Amino acid sequence: MLSVGVDIGGTKILGALVSESGEIIYEARVPSPAQDPDLMVMTVVDLIRDVSSHAKEKVVGAGVAAAGFIDANQSTILYAPNLNWRNEPFRDRLAQHLDLPIVIENDANAAGWAEYKFGAGKNTKDMVMLTLGTGVGGAVVADYKLRRGGFGMAGELGHVRVVQDGKQCGCGRKGCVEQYSSGTAVVKAARKLAGSAGPAGQRLRELKERDGELGGQQVYAALLEQDPAVLGIFRDAGRYLGQAMATITAVLDPEVYVIGGGVSEAGDLILDPIREGFLGDLPARGFRPEARIVTAAFTNQAGVIGAADLARESLAKL
Ligand code: BGC
Ligand code: NA
Ligand code: ZN
Repeated sequence: MLSVGVDIGGTKILGALVSESGEIIYEARVPSPAQDPDLMVMTVVDLIRDVSSHAKEKVVGAGVAAAGFIDANQSTILYAPNLNWRNEPFRDRLAQHLDLPIVIENDANAAGWAEYKFGAGKNTKDMVMLTLGTGVGGAVVADYKLRRGGFGMAGELGHVRVVQDGKQCGCGRKGCVEQYSSGTAVVKAARKLAGSAGPAGQRLRELKERDGELGGQQVYAALLEQDPAVLGIFRDAGRYLGQAMATITAVLDPEVYVIGGGVSEAGDLILDPIREGFLGDLPARGFRPEARIVTAAFTNQAGVIGAADLARESLAKL
C-alpha cells in the first residue's frame, strides 16, 4: 500500500511516495510560498499530483505536514506561530482539487512518528521528539500511540515555558523554549553577538564579512571551529531545552528523547548541554531511570515519511 507524504517548510516543500515499510519510492521538491496560503494550496496540489503519478499501484491517501496547531479533524490549520496562517481550512481546499483522501498533520508529529516507527525511536513504547528548526516542534508517543490530545494539539512542546516573563513568542506568551532553543533563536543570538562591539563576536563578524550574511551556515562554521562565543550560544540553547525536557519528563516519563532539526546537526555540541540541563533539573534525580537523549536518524525526510505513514493509518480506519 502506498501513500503520499508532503512536508511544508519555510523555504521548500518536499513530497514523496512512500511504501508501508517507510521507503521512499519517489520524491520531489519545490520552493515554498510559505507566506501565501492561496498559492500554497495550488503548489501542494500540483506536488501531490506529480508524486502520485509515479505510483504503479493504488495510492491510499496523502498526509500533509505543516508547522502549526492543527484541529482534531486534521483538516484546519488553526494557528501557525511562524507563518501567517490563521483558521486555514487547508484540507478542504486541497480536497477540492484532488480525488485522494487528505489529512493534515503537525510537522513535528509527522517527523516524530517517522523516528518512532523507522528511526531513532524504534522499539520503544514512550518516546518524545523535539525538532529544533525555525520553531521548536514536539511529538509525543505514549504507549505506542501518537498523542493528539483532546483538541488535536497535544505535543506543542516548543511552547513549554522555560523563562518567567522571558522573550516574546509567536504563540502569544512569553518565555517559551522555542525562543531559546530553535535555530531561529540561535541565529538571533549570534547576530546580536556580532552586532555588539566586543571581541567575542569577532569570528562571527569575519564570517559575515566573508559570506555577506550571518545565517545558520555561518554560525555552524564558527561552531565547528569551536569559537568560544558560539559554543556558549549552543550551550545556552541546549540547557534551556534540557530544562524543558525535565518538565516534560515530569508529565510523560519517556524512555527516549529524539532531537532533530537543523540545530541537532551540532551533535554532541548541543546534546551535551541538553543532557546537562535535563539532568540538572530532573525531578527525583538519582532515584529514577534517566531517559536516553539521541539525535534523529532521518535528516530531511522524516516529515514526509511520517506524514505518509500517519495518513495511511488514519485513512485505513475510515
Ligand atoms: C509550532 C508547531 C511546530 C513547530 C515546528 C512551532 O512554533 O507551534 O506547530 O510544530 O513550530 O515547526
Ligand atoms: Na507537535
Ligand atoms: Zn510559544
